[in-house]
Amino acid sequence: MKKLLLLAMLSCSMVLACSKRGVTTDPNPTAPVVPVVPDNTTLQNSLPFPFGAAVNIGLLKTNTAYRATVVKEYSSLTAENAMKTGSLHPQQNTYDWTDADYLVDFAKQNNKRIHGHTLVWYKSLPAWITNFQGDAAAWENLLKTHIQTIVTHFKGKVASWDVVNEAFEDDGTLRNSIWLQKLGPDYIARSFQYAHEADPDALLFYNDYGHEYGPTKRTAILNLVNNLKTRGIPINGIGMQMHTRYNMTESNWLTAITTAAQTGLKVHISELDIAMNPDDNQSLTLTPALAQTQAQKYAYIVKAYNAIPKTQQFGITTWNVSDADTWITGNYNRPDWPLPFDNNYNRKPAYQGILDGVK
Ligand code: G3I
Repeated sequence: MKKLLLLAMLSCSMVLACSKRGVTTDPNPTAPVVPVVPDNTTLQNSLPFPFGAAVNIGLLKTNTAYRATVVKEYSSLTAENAMKTGSLHPQQNTYDWTDADYLVDFAKQNNKRIHGHTLVWYKSLPAWITNFQGDAAAWENLLKTHIQTIVTHFKGKVASWDVVNEAFEDDGTLRNSIWLQKLGPDYIARSFQYAHEADPDALLFYNDYGHEYGPTKRTAILNLVNNLKTRGIPINGIGMQMHTRYNMTESNWLTAITTAAQTGLKVHISELDIAMNPDDNQSLTLTPALAQTQAQKYAYIVKAYNAIPKTQQFGITTWNVSDADTWITGNYNRPDWPLPFDNNYNRKPAYQGILDGVK
């Protein structure tokens, strides 16, 4: 009898503890844990800064649940691939605006901000660039024309750009990209100048990953942006991708966010996702306990971000919308559940975690 009473008390206190966090637990531990969030609560209306997602144009056009989630939940959109060089500028004298313009029109109709991603990167390079033959002046002209044609096309429609993406290696040295090889290290500064000339109103970001890994890469990135600022190069913000994992030391996230804010620039957590299976266990499932852990990690990151000065909060963007469309499963060929929506676009505990981060 005593045992029964104890069990009843224990399960009551578990339900209480969970309902305090805004979720209900099912007595069956393998059942999904569903956040109790009123249907008319949305991320975009609940958070004191823009909240965005990287979107896939194919899904936006064809998947009604995907589209409805994007319309309902987010105030800012980044094209997952449609504004990369490979998509926009497939041949030297050919630009293909089809998908990117579709996204811009969609954003206008639905009152969303568009963040442009990305003008200068070592990936998504079409063959005409990797095979390009020319002297320094010809390469400079290529860079300038590429940036200015794209920024001009979207002038007044795309509010901000990742001008240069992932220019550093993890050891803090400049990545040996085609841009570095052909144009030297100051291609970064000149890229910002070219973008600014084309649209003086656009907010210009340096975007990279790994701020949370440790001081080596982070310091290199911070030194770069501080140097650009000091020289009067038109840089407005720092994008921290934050493709992270649930077992990352939390203080690393905090340090990444606070040191980025110390630059005085706007801070964009630009590609957030929290991998739950970073060690590639092919038979792992997202248990209720793991989903709760993920919720706490999302809450931690959002809380740390919410603590930086309001004027520097450009927003948080998750990379993709749901676990069904995350780049991680395809890229690493493993099951994973890094996002706040499940495979059916239902809200996960992570969704509640994001809301908890600003309580
Ligand atoms: O569209 C082609 C298709 O025609 C072709 O048949 C197929 C065969 O491989 O490839 C398709 O393109 C793929 C594209 O995604 C669209 O699905 C590319 O191979 C693939 O490399 C590309 O991956 C993208 C990756 O960036 C490289 O551009 C991912 O979707 C995208 O999520 C990822 O995003 C990056 C950010 O831009 C920068 N930070 C890291 C982040 C994650 O890697």
